Amino acid sequence: MSSVVITGAGKGIGAGIVEAFAKAGWSIVAVDRDRSSLEATAAKVGSKTVTLAGDVADRATSEAAVKMAVDRFGGLDAVVGNAGVTLPKLIDDTSADEFDKLFAINVKALMFLAQAAHRALAKSRGSLTVIASKTGLVAQRNSPIYVATKGAAVQLARALALDWAPEGIRVNAVCPGIVDTPMLKEFIDAMPDPAASRREHEAAQPLGRLATPAEVASAVLFLATPAAAFITGVALPVDGGFTAE
Ligand SMILES: NC(=O)c1ccc[n+]([C@@H]2O[C@H](COP(=O)([O-])OP(=O)(O)OC[C@H]3O[C@@H](n4cnc5c(N)ncnc54)[C@H](O)[C@@H]3O)[C@@H](O)[C@H]2O)c1
Repeated sequence: MSSVVITGAGKGIGAGIVEAFAKAGWSIVAVDRDRSSLEATAAKVGSKTVTLAGDVADRATSEAAVKMAVDRFGGLDAVVGNAGVTLPKLIDDTSADEFDKLFAINVKALMFLAQAAHRALAKSRGSLTVIASKTGLVAQRNSPIYVATKGAAVQLARALALDWAPEGIRVNAVCPGIVDTPMLKEFIDAMPDPAASRREHEAAQPLGRLATPAEVASAVLFLATPAAAFITGVALPVDGGFTAE
């Protein structure tokens, strides 16, 4: 029986990742700071998913999640660092506190997760997948600090892939394009004309629509399976062709 820790599991892409792993028969520790959405995700997928309410910016959350997987499921085969927040603000409007908060959740939390999981993943020769973004590969307007965090997440995954390869641990980044989630709604609602912004986002992807969380989740599941046994250090776009242009 394979087990996985998934962060940001309450809503959006994270909830989709939980559903994909549950369907594939994995045992799951689902982590989110929003207890009610976390419970709703877990209720949908059944008894092999246990929940942990906590903030990933707090090192103790990652340590507790890994311990839970090892204690309940006898080991840990995969970790998915998905929790993240956006900051739709120009740089002149961004405070030092907002910068620190964004890096704490989108980047430092990945370090905590990797540190907490390292020994268990070495034992299982498992994998870590971080959910970065197409904005970790190409920039976008109106959210420079968010873009900076995603560039950092991509490079962290590549660097860890090199450091951990001798131990047989694979590390990859998944780089979603524009995905229909509560986070996207928050970003679009902050624009002067949200309806026009949504149409622009749909048209921006060569496939002409937004991605679903399930479409991102299937790539994440693939990277955690033996089918991806020789794939490490990649930043895989799941973006409807956006970064091909
Ligand atoms: N939606 C998109 O278009 C898109 C595109 C590229 C990348 N991403 C990335 O995908 C990931 C998921 O995005 P989403 O759109 O599903 O977001 P979302 O806001 O819809 O859901 C994120 C989930 O993470 C949880 N979360 C946020 N901060 C947390 C914290 N500090 N500790 C614990 N849980 C926390 C939230 O409670 C929520 O349940 C993020 O890393 C995001 O940057 C999203």
